[in-house]
Amino acid sequence: MVDETSIFIGASRKPDDSYQRAEELLLRYGNRHGLVTGATGTGKTVSLQILAEGFSNAGVPVFCADIKGDLSGISMMGQAKDFLVKRAEQVKLDPYQFQEFPVIFWDLFGEQGHPVRATISEIGPLLLSRLMNLTEAQEGVMNIAFRIADEEGLLLLDLKDLQALLANIAERADELSSRYGNVTKPSVGAIQRTLLVLESQGAANFFGEPALRIADIMRTTRDGRGAISVLAADKLMMNPRLYATFLLWLMSELFEELPEVGDLDRPKLVFFFDEAHLLFEDAPKVLIDRVEQVVRLIRSRGVGVYFVTQNPLDIPEKVLAQLGNRVQHALRAYTPREQQAVRTAAETFRPNPDFDCATAITQLATGEALVSMLEDKGVPAMVQRTLIRPPSSRLGPITPDERRKIIAESPVAGQYDETVDRESAFEMLQKKAKEAQDAEAQAQQQNSGGSRWTIPGFDDVLGTGNRRPSNRQTVAEAAIKSVVRSVGSSVGRAIVRGILGSLARGR
Ligand SMILES: Nc1ncnc2c1ncn2[C@@H]1O[C@H](COP(=O)(O)OP(=O)(O)OP(=O)(O)O)[C@@H](O)[C@H]1O
Ligand SMILES: [Mg+2]
Repeated sequence: MVDETSIFIGASRKPDDSYQRAEELLLRYGNRHGLVTGATGTGKTVSLQILAEGFSNAGVPVFCADIKGDLSGISMMGQAKDFLVKRAEQVKLDPYQFQEFPVIFWDLFGEQGHPVRATISEIGPLLLSRLMNLTEAQEGVMNIAFRIADEEGLLLLDLKDLQALLANIAERADELSSRYGNVTKPSVGAIQRTLLVLESQGAANFFGEPALRIADIMRTTRDGRGAISVLAADKLMMNPRLYATFLLWLMSELFEELPEVGDLDRPKLVFFFDEAHLLFEDAPKVLIDRVEQVVRLIRSRGVGVYFVTQNPLDIPEKVLAQLGNRVQHALRAYTPREQQAVRTAAETFRPNPDFDCATAITQLATGEALVSMLEDKGVPAMVQRTLIRPPSSRLGPITPDERRKIIAESPVAGQYDETVDRESAFEMLQKKAKEAQDAEAQAQQQNSGGSRWTIPGFDDVLGTGNRRPSNRQTVAEAAIKSVVRSVGSSVGRAIVRGILGSLARGR
């Protein structure tokens, strides 16, 4: 079954609306990325579903976000509903067979799937700053914080590690400013407060260990089908920045971890990015540039990225230009902006003399689309008005019971369910603080112990200790430095940050 070379998408129609031919996505161009667009309710999710089915059947693992829960049905056998059977006949899908697909459910909140985690270190300062919507000055401090953590060997796993590090940085602000540039207490304080907000939004679940292993989303079944990882994203949508951060991180991880491969007969992994506009909405230019870079480069790792969004204008031009396989569902064209979007969408296709693209886009029925896939030599095919095939799996959501059963039987069951809290920055800094305290207590004891002897008139100097701030600092600093030195050298300096500033593991 894995010797197929293409995925059946549907049937194109002639101008008189009769059957023309089968439209297919060539697997060897599956890593040339794609785009599925269309207004609400026009059939985007179903198109995503049949593409995911096709990739899975071809042995290609898939990762996709399930925004409304309606993609979860892909884990269940479809049913012969009238309108589906009729559609199958229209597109000459014969036999129309039903199938359930091997699904692994994931959830950043650990409720509707296995928890997905990443460590603060892996996420890196660029994505974190974006996640927290930091100002430039605050981002500067965040960069310094990561540098200090890298240099001093402080492991940043979860939010409390970052909090502890920031608290430590606030205390050492003056010393650090002279070494790294401006570290002001107010900007550190602002970051700390933003972290609290993040925590209250439930992001604490996401940061920590065990972090997601890329290998777990690249599984195949014994019968050669690619696993479909479905990320529950309904709740995540309430925090669009967290959603975007996670998916960007995942993409950069794939890029960093997967080896360069030549031309393959099919992708190694395909990634569907629903509500893709969230990625780019008020994203700073640096980030858009990096995303563009990752999308361009990840192709050579055998990874295909498919953006799903309402409007092609949601995607920056440079990224759009790299999306080879296109499925354009209907767009409305009431307002000038909508009309502009329709024209733009139409202009991205290689025209078909049989019809006017812009007009067609506004007339497409549900589950019908303008389709242009890459054909021989990776050239976009002439656009075709195409009826999309019906899915083989269930249309619509599964029940909570069905979901629980799949989660319990999943190949990663039990591997991510419990958080592991190993020693990291929080514990290390706590230890340091304690050592500093102990050292000071000892010094004080020595002082008070020795106070049997006094120098007349100099009582204050050797007295209670509350007038020796400079000395206290010195003791604390000495303790910190010694711990830092030993930890720092044992971790080594070979920490390389990847293309999105995330930590490159295993290098
Ligand atoms: N290829 C298809 N074959 C049969 N029915 C389809 C097909 N595509 C869409 N439909 C029908 O149209 C409905 C809406 O499609 P879908 O949920 O994919 O829209 P959408 O663009 O994802 O909408 P939203 O933006 O609201 O998420 C489906 O529930 C199904 O009934
Ligand atoms: Mg949808």
